[in-house]
Amino acid sequence: MKPNTSAQFLYTDSQPAEQDILAEVLAGLRASQLSISPKYFYDERGSQLFEAITKLPEYYVTRTELSLFDEHLSDIAEVIGPDCCVIEYGSGSTLKIRRVLSALRPAAYVPVDISGDYLLEGAQRLAEDFAELDIFPICADFTQHLALPEALSSLSKVGFFPGSSIGNFEPEHAAEFMRRVNTTLGPEGLLLIGVDCKKDVKILEAAYDDSEGVTAQFNLNALSNLNLKLGANFRPDRFEHVARYNESLGCIQMFLRSSCYQEVTLGGHTIEIQEGQAIHTENSYKYFPEEFLALAAEAGFAPAQYWLDDQQHFGLYLLRVAPEAN
Ligand code: TRP
Repeated sequence: MKPNTSAQFLYTDSQPAEQDILAEVLAGLRASQLSISPKYFYDERGSQLFEAITKLPEYYVTRTELSLFDEHLSDIAEVIGPDCCVIEYGSGSTLKIRRVLSALRPAAYVPVDISGDYLLEGAQRLAEDFAELDIFPICADFTQHLALPEALSSLSKVGFFPGSSIGNFEPEHAAEFMRRVNTTLGPEGLLLIGVDCKKDVKILEAAYDDSEGVTAQFNLNALSNLNLKLGANFRPDRFEHVARYNESLGCIQMFLRSSCYQEVTLGGHTIEIQEGQAIHTENSYKYFPEEFLALAAEAGFAPAQYWLDDQQHFGLYLLRVAPEAN
């Protein structure tokens, strides 16, 4: 638990109710293209598997983003200034935020994540290491409207959305989400966001289908998570991980392909799945800088500055809430 200091630690649980989850999952499995929302990847085991993905040799995303942090966080801290409140959308591992907190020295930190136990555990470890920081973890679906604790109303807001998670939205939903973030951040707000670039298809496909099969386990874990959450009876061993780059959409698409005809029961409903039929689980859109900045502009953000690594694999963007946006 939180040690010694006068810093605040307030946990808010706004996790969606179980009926909502069942209705949403059923709707996805009854559509003509079967789908499961990627948010079901991130239970505790999923979060651990994702952490393993970030260390894979094929998955250049995390290490490239971390090297951009190392190079530019002190400049970023200067633009942002002291005493802000950092809001992290989807706070999995605390590796990145530790570097951000050390460089920015904010007054408060709000990690938002749907995986409550993992969120709380990470936040408690941070409280031990950043004794003066006020921490307000919120367990919630961060794509929905976010109500910030009253105590934060006077602080300037900095959104933090690393790991190219923005690429996991359809572009129009990405713009909508960023519009909502824009409103939460308010007139002086800034957003630090990491976005993966378009590049050689071989590099992209290897990053999402690694030779050790960790990404496959991660994808399949969505099924195990639904078994636990909804009492479903998916058989992960009867599905295969598929990841390929869709050139015309500009995204990696991930599927779980059924290796036989099967029936799955959840919440008293039975779903039939044909041999070879694929459940879509995730897209990961890739953006050239000019494409991403156009999307940001749609959501009312103007670039303060952005940085790419030497190979132009990944972009780190510091965006400002544009004056006309609020
Ligand atoms: N935001 C990450 C990305 O698009 C998420 C991710 C990485 C992911 N690897 C994955 C999602 C494998 C599903 C499956 O790169």
